[in-house]
Amino acid sequence: NWTMNDFIDLQIQHIRETVGDKKVLLGLSGGVDSSVVGVLLHKAIGKQLTSIFVDHGLLRKNEAKQVMDSLAGKFGLNIIKVDAQERFLSKLKGVTDPEKKRKIIGNEFIQVFNDEARKLDGIDFLAQGTLYTDVVESGTDTAQTIKSHHNVGGLPKDMKFKLIEPLNKLFKDEAREIGEKLGMPDTLVWRQPFPGPGLGIRVLGEVTPNKLRIVRDSDFILRDEIAKAGLQRQVWQYFTVLPGFKSVGVMGDGRTYDYTVAIRAVNSVDGMTADFARLPWDVLQKISTRIVNEVDGVNRIVYDVTSKPPSTIEWE
Ligand code: XMP
Repeated sequence: NWTMNDFIDLQIQHIRETVGDKKVLLGLSGGVDSSVVGVLLHKAIGKQLTSIFVDHGLLRKNEAKQVMDSLAGKFGLNIIKVDAQERFLSKLKGVTDPEKKRKIIGNEFIQVFNDEARKLDGIDFLAQGTLYTDVVESGTDTAQTIKSHHNVGGLPKDMKFKLIEPLNKLFKDEAREIGEKLGMPDTLVWRQPFPGPGLGIRVLGEVTPNKLRIVRDSDFILRDEIAKAGLQRQVWQYFTVLPGFKSVGVMGDGRTYDYTVAIRAVNSVDGMTADFARLPWDVLQKISTRIVNEVDGVNRIVYDVTSKPPSTIEWE
C-alpha cells in the first residue's frame, strides 16, 4: 500500500525536521497507539527518544513483559520501566467507588510519570499516540461524563513540552496498518482495547491482590481459549470481571463457598454502542471449566448477555 508507506516516510522526515537535535519523551501504555508512535519515532530519531512505561500492577498477565521484550528488546527503544504496583495498590486500599478509583489511578499515573520525567534532563518534546478520534471525542460530552477516560488529556501542567502527535490525523485501523508496515508483531498491533485503569475497574469495589490475581488469571484463560478457537479478530473486546460476591458450589465431596467470575465479550465499532458476542457454547464451556479448575477461589462462571446500551462494556 503506497499511501501508508508514503505516510511513514513523510512523518519520519517531518519528525526529524521538527525535533532537530533535541530530545523527545513518550509515555508508553503498551497499547497500539503509543507503541506505534514509539516505533515510528525510534525509526526517525533513534536515541533522542526516551520512553516511560509505568507498570501500575493493573495490567494483564505477561503484558509488561511482552511490551518490554518487543519494544525494548526487538525494536531497541530506550524504555524506563517504572514498577509502581505497590504505590497504586496502597492508594486504592479501601476505595470502592468506580469513579474514585479511576481518578486515583489516573492521578497516580500522571504523578509517577512526572516523577520520572523530572529526572530527565533537556527534554523539549512530548510525543503522544493521539488519534483523530481522540481529538474529536474528547470534545464531546459522552466521553467525558459517562466515565472519565483518563488517557485523554492529563498533561503535566508545569512542564513545558511541545507536543508531537504523528497519528492525530489517522483512524485506529490506519494506525494498525502503520504498525504492520513498521514490522510490529500482531500482539501489539491487534491488541483489543484496554482501559487506562486496567484490571482496577474489572475487580468491582475494593481492589485487593487476591482479587487482582483472580481477574488476571481468569482473563488469561479466556484470551487463551479465544485464541485457540481462532476468534481473536472476530470479537472486538473480551475480558473477565470479578463482581466480588460468593456463592455455594460443590467440588468432590465438599461444599465450596467461592467467587463468581463473569465473562464479558462484545462486538462494537467504536465502543459507543456494543452488542454482546455470541460466543460458541463449546468455547464458553472450555473457558468455564478451565477457570474453575485452574483459578483458586472460583466456583461459578456467568456470561454477560447485555448489550450497550443499556449496559456499558465495562462493569464499572
Ligand atoms: P464503556 O464501559 O464505557 O467502555 O462502555 C467503552 C470502551 O471504553 C473503554 N473504557 C475506558 N478506557 N479509560 C480508558 O482508557 C477508562 O476509564 C475506560 N472505561 C472504559 C472500555 O474498555 C471500552 O472499550
